[in-house]
Amino acid sequence: MTKNYDLVVIGGGPAGYAAALYGSAAGLKVAIVEENKIGGTCLHVGCIPAKELLETASVLRSVRQAKDFGIAISQDPVIDLSISQNRKQTIIDQLFTGLNSLLAGREVTIYSGTGLLGANRKIEIQQNGETEVIQGTNVLLATGSTPRTIQGFEIDGKTVMTSDEFLSIEETPDRVAVIGGGAIGCEFASLLNDLGSSVTLLESLDEILPGCDKDISTAVRRSFVKKGIDIQTGVQVEGHEGDAEKTTVSWSDKGEANQREVDLVVVAVGRKPNGHTAGLQDTEVVVDEKGFIEVDEKLRTKEQGVWAAGDVINTPQLAHVGFAEGIFVVKEILGESPVSIDPSTVPWCIYCDPEVAFAGLTEESAKTAGYKVTISKHRYSGNGRAMIIGETEGLVKVIAETDESGKAGRILGVHMAGPLVTEQLGQAYLAVNLEATVDEVANHIQAHPTLSELFGETVMSLTGRSLHG
Ligand code: NAI
Repeated sequence: MTKNYDLVVIGGGPAGYAAALYGSAAGLKVAIVEENKIGGTCLHVGCIPAKELLETASVLRSVRQAKDFGIAISQDPVIDLSISQNRKQTIIDQLFTGLNSLLAGREVTIYSGTGLLGANRKIEIQQNGETEVIQGTNVLLATGSTPRTIQGFEIDGKTVMTSDEFLSIEETPDRVAVIGGGAIGCEFASLLNDLGSSVTLLESLDEILPGCDKDISTAVRRSFVKKGIDIQTGVQVEGHEGDAEKTTVSWSDKGEANQREVDLVVVAVGRKPNGHTAGLQDTEVVVDEKGFIEVDEKLRTKEQGVWAAGDVINTPQLAHVGFAEGIFVVKEILGESPVSIDPSTVPWCIYCDPEVAFAGLTEESAKTAGYKVTISKHRYSGNGRAMIIGETEGLVKVIAETDESGKAGRILGVHMAGPLVTEQLGQAYLAVNLEATVDEVANHIQAHPTLSELFGETVMSLTGRSLHG
């Protein structure tokens, strides 16, 4: 007899496990099929390991700064990366165990193997030559993404790596070329620079961090350059030549040829959706030419009762967007008519130093969308808490819609670069998504002294009056 479930999820990353947990909490009978490890990229080779290593870099910066606080360190700090790697693995293992017990506690059935969706929402699970078939009244495809590579840079795990291999390095390479100045490239460049590597960041566009507000990418670029990261933008990476120890990377910069010998090349040029990995034979599911599964605004594929969420669909490839989409699908299945997720207002957090966090429209995208805007920017250099912790770089920028009377009205976007901004975004995200006006937000009290009062200050100055602006 074929086992039946209210919901079968293929892929156990953030989108998949969020749907499984939320669905089972709502009383659905749920199964999840995973060919690797529950937790997906985020837990095993993405967000969690990257942030753990970045935290090592942050501790190192604090130790180096200790003398400013009168704390004498008798010698230069020495990093043993293998200890940080063990710590990283312990955190992953704890979260992995916790996730598995949460799923077990909610009676979600976990199938190990590759899930292949066929007609009538039947899923064939293949593992070690054995096959089992289950059926879902509803099916969620959450098969995720894998690092993209570029021609001329075969991944060998020694001198050329993607994030998959890089996050397990045991020693700090002396010289590194990071290809791609997006979220991953900037986090890795920042980490390596802190750990002591000499870093060249190669980006094909004219600025790093595409998608960020220009003032924010400029702030990060300035800070990176000050620390000694060599940023090459508008370049075309051509290839490399070397052995398992070192290699010479070639690129052209507006026609001019350049080369640099490095010990490691990290390729961080985006992630490719795994649109084709769940079979889909004899279904109406459409996969586009980039590999994304096509969905409508309710995350439905063209096959009745089959949904898709997470990195495999063309929405921001962020773990928390996966969570939100997994929850959305469950609500849809339950007939609760949830509000569609607007990709332009999701929160973004990038954990390089300085950190970046934002939600909503950039100045440029707001203007392109036809809004008349009023803008306010405040720098951390004037913030008491920032001075106390010794991290005064960066700014908060708020973009508001100019109303008919010429006053700043609804908050369209908030963009931050600076100390711990990833932890400060919450209220800005709410303001953007609740479509709050600057007057409404300015009426609320900000605790003092905090880093986050800079957001309140920036908003208050948009009301036409401010304390310190
Ligand atoms: P990305 O799409 O954010 O950035 C890739 C960068 O590589 C772009 O700036 C692009 O212009 C550049 N590029 C592409 N081809 C190139 C080439 N041949 N030569 C030089 N530069 C080239 O992708 P990334 O950073 O790999 O991240 C993948 C996904 O994961 C993204 O959606 C990202 O937002 C997400 N992510 C988010 C994080 C966060 O929010 N903290 C952290 C890590 C990843």
